[in-house]
Amino acid sequence: IEKKPIIVAIDGPAASGKSTTARILADKLGYIYIDTGAMYRSVTLKALREGLLDDLRKDESGISRLLRTITIGFQGDRVILDGEDVTEAIRENQVSREVSFISSLKLVRDKLRELQQQMGRKRGIVMDGRDIGTVIFPDAELKIFLVADPAERAKRRHVELSLKAGGAAVPSLEELEAEIKQRDRDDEERTHAPLKRHPDAVLLDTSNMSIDEQVNVVHDLVMKIVGQS
Ligand code: DC
Repeated sequence: IEKKPIIVAIDGPAASGKSTTARILADKLGYIYIDTGAMYRSVTLKALREGLLDDLRKDESGISRLLRTITIGFQGDRVILDGEDVTEAIRENQVSREVSFISSLKLVRDKLRELQQQMGRKRGIVMDGRDIGTVIFPDAELKIFLVADPAERAKRRHVELSLKAGGAAVPSLEELEAEIKQRDRDDEERTHAPLKRHPDAVLLDTSNMSIDEQVNVVHDLVMKIVGQS
C-alpha cells in the first residue's frame, strides 16, 4: 500500500545524536534528510570568506546582499554552497566558532526558514535542527526532541574527533563538555527561534541508548503514524 509521506522534525542540543539518527532513519524510510545545521554553517562559511563578520557584529543588515544570491543544496550526503561542495569546509573550527552568532541573526533565520519550508513542501523528509518542530514545521506529523547528558555528549564528540584526527591532538573531555554547555546556552538564550521543545514533541533521552536503539524508537513512532493514515 502507498503510504502518505510525513514530516519528521528532530530537534535537540549539540551532539545529542540528531544527525546520525535522522540520516539513518531517512535512509530506512526512503525519505530525504535535511541537516539544517549544515545550512547555517554554509551561510557562516560564505560570510567568513567575504570578510563580513566584523561589520555584521555592528550592523546585521550587511548580510542581506549575501542572502539574496546564496544557493544551498544537498546531493546525497554532500552539502553544496553556490555550486561548490563544502561538506568538509563547513566543519572547520572557524565556522563552528562563528555559527552561533550567524544563526542568531533574524535576516538569516528568515531566509533559511523560507528555504527549509520549500524543501519540505512535498513531505517525505526527516529534518533536524533546533527549531524544526517549533518554527519551521509546527505541523510535522512527528516531532522528536533528543537530549543527552552533557558528559555523555562530550564523550561521543571525543570519539568522533579522535577517529577523524588520525593521531593528531584532540580537545580534552573537559574542554569538549565546556564547549557543549556554552553552545547549549547560546542556542537556548537567543531571541529568535531559541532551542525549545514543542509541547507535542516526544522527549527522548539518548544518554544510555545506542544509535540502533534511537533509530528503532523513532522508526516505530513513524510506523504508528503512517499506519494510521
Ligand atoms: O547542528 P549543528 O551543530 O551543525 O548546528 C550548528 C549551529 O547552527 C548550532 O550552534 C545552532 C545553529 N542552528 C540553528 O540555529 N537552527 C537550526 N535549525 C540548526 C542549527
